[in-house]
Amino acid sequence: MAGNEKLDLEKARRVAQGVMGDVASALHIQLCYIGDRLGIFKAMMNAGPLSIDALAAASGVDRRYLREWAAAMVAAQYVDYDKSAQTYFLAPEYAAALADDQSPFFVASYFQTAQAAAAIAPRVAQAFKDGGGVDQSEYPPSLFEAFERNSGTRYRHKLVRKWLPAMPQVVQALDHGGIMADVGCGGGRAAVMIAQAFPNARAVGVDVHPESIARARELAAHRGVADRVTFEVGDAGSLPAEKFDFVSTFDVVHDAVDPAGLMRSIHNAIKRDGTYLVQEINVSDQLTENISTLGKLGYSISTLYCLATSLAHEGAGLGIGMGEAKARELAASAGFSQFRRLPIKDEVAILFEIRP
Ligand SMILES: C[S@@+](CC[C@H](N)C(=O)[O-])C[C@H]1O[C@@H](n2cnc3c(N)ncnc32)[C@H](O)[C@@H]1O
Repeated sequence: MAGNEKLDLEKARRVAQGVMGDVASALHIQLCYIGDRLGIFKAMMNAGPLSIDALAAASGVDRRYLREWAAAMVAAQYVDYDKSAQTYFLAPEYAAALADDQSPFFVASYFQTAQAAAAIAPRVAQAFKDGGGVDQSEYPPSLFEAFERNSGTRYRHKLVRKWLPAMPQVVQALDHGGIMADVGCGGGRAAVMIAQAFPNARAVGVDVHPESIARARELAAHRGVADRVTFEVGDAGSLPAEKFDFVSTFDVVHDAVDPAGLMRSIHNAIKRDGTYLVQEINVSDQLTENISTLGKLGYSISTLYCLATSLAHEGAGLGIGMGEAKARELAASAGFSQFRRLPIKDEVAILFEIRP
């Protein structure tokens, strides 16, 4: 075979091994999803070395499945195994990533993202062939819960402590009874956290996804802020004119069917001295700068969700690599006159402060 003459066999072997490693990770992630969903990681947190019987009792799951599951965790080096004592131990650093949803290192919610994204892949493959996209209503509800959990960790540790203080005029407005709108609010965590942090502030969340709005309302009621935070199904076009001191979109603009229209509506809804915060994912608009874990994750979820849901309605389909230049262009054409990238170092998020 002529093609074989050019094949670097050593490299080919390495490539095949690397790809098999990725496949092993993809399958292992499904077990991690089970560990997250059934609370097995949580049962191991701060528990010291556990026998399978003790772990089965603590997590309430079937012992035989658990033994196989634990073996996979040991093989992946997520869990330490003591051969003589036959015990399994989740080290604190692994517990921070896998079990402790209050930790800034918590990433186990991404297992749920991966599982739900895998479930929709055959439908997206169909769209590759047919064109068009995949409507939000076709996605498993757990994908939206996963988005909410992923961003919830970011908000808990950064939104009120780091992001808002980078815009003193926003903090001042919220302190003094200002009103904010979170557009594309998903499950409502950002608006609820802001309301909790600023007892005088009021917030409105809008999202085109009805199930997310239902969860957001439950969250506001549960946290005791429903008198100051309301949620509605809709988009920025449904907001009243010149009403808001602060408007935010967290991971929304590149998903939007009509990002230019979204920004125009926000420009219309914001007060003349108000502030619009755009948070996007920190991937470049230059493909060659995204040869990274975040690039791999970002383009994958973008193809499976962001792009597909935008194209379902003949949208712009900007994709996750929208980049700062595009954000600037959209803001300027919507009528905003000030644009500043906030000086915040973040592995995942990029933040733009935009003002009328
Ligand atoms: C990736 S999710 C982010 C949700 C939430 N902001 C968060 O950070 O968890 C994007 C959200 O934007 C919503 N969305 C997209 N386009 C929208 C639009 N034009 N108006 C309102 N919501 C929109 C989607 O329904 C989805 O809930």
